[in-house]
Amino acid sequence: MSTRMLQKPHCQVRVYRDPAELALKAARLFARLADQYVIGSGRFTVALSGGSTPKAMFSVLAADPFLDTVPWSSIYFFWGDERCVPPDHPDSNYRMTNESLLSKVPVPPENVFRIPAELPDPERAAEEYAATLTAFFLAGAGAGPTGTAPLSTVPRFDLVFLGMGPDGHTASLFPHTTALQAGEQIAVANYVEKFKAHRITLTAATINNARNVTFLAAGEDKAETLKDVLEGSYQPDLYPSQLIRPRNGALLWLVDDAAARLLADQHPAE
Ligand code: 6PG
Repeated sequence: MSTRMLQKPHCQVRVYRDPAELALKAARLFARLADQYVIGSGRFTVALSGGSTPKAMFSVLAADPFLDTVPWSSIYFFWGDERCVPPDHPDSNYRMTNESLLSKVPVPPENVFRIPAELPDPERAAEEYAATLTAFFLAGAGAGPTGTAPLSTVPRFDLVFLGMGPDGHTASLFPHTTALQAGEQIAVANYVEKFKAHRITLTAATINNARNVTFLAAGEDKAETLKDVLEGSYQPDLYPSQLIRPRNGALLWLVDDAAARLLADQHPAE
């Protein structure tokens, strides 16, 4: 077993041999947290990410032993970000998740809350998604006799999975974009110059309100950025992944050897 654990100031990093081992460990983490939250509170709320690393994990989750043992009917699925395309478009994160996971496991369709990114107005899509999140989490939060709950606690995901691009972006929080200044908004439309297109993304504030945030990053092309993000100075405009520091939750990075190549202090842990 080649797992190494590195303790960094704001998070723990677990390093695996290759993308396949990373996908398996991420699937096990998902299954363990799903059990824990379903047993403890009757449901598990998760925001998923696009990208190749999550896709590999989804395929693992859609097969044995996870297919038969994960409490699928009590899991509520959301997304951290979406490209502004219809849900059947090849670029759609929803489509990728549906094809690799959701269509293969017994999740009731009413547990799936995709981002309506096909709407012609991206701002409107972000507002609708934010409203969906607020309604869902307020309804499930036991808002109390007055029916009110502090907005700062809504939404609070049990788990947010994130990827990181070689440029340091996460979700659709890209370097030097307006979404980095979104403050306490829940979800926003973000124009990304390099794609000449909008994306819809959860804000850092929403992600940082989660109970667990887990990054998945694999590959040599992430190594330099990962070192800068975890060990370099705080430059969130340049490396938006540095904005992710849960206020009252756990931050974990699951990475492969290639991505971790430049990280300091790799002590053997198993
Ligand atoms: C997307 C993402 C994005 C992704 C990273 C990492 O829709 O593209 O949500 O933030 O997770 O770019 O992607 P890879 O895992 O493919 O490197």
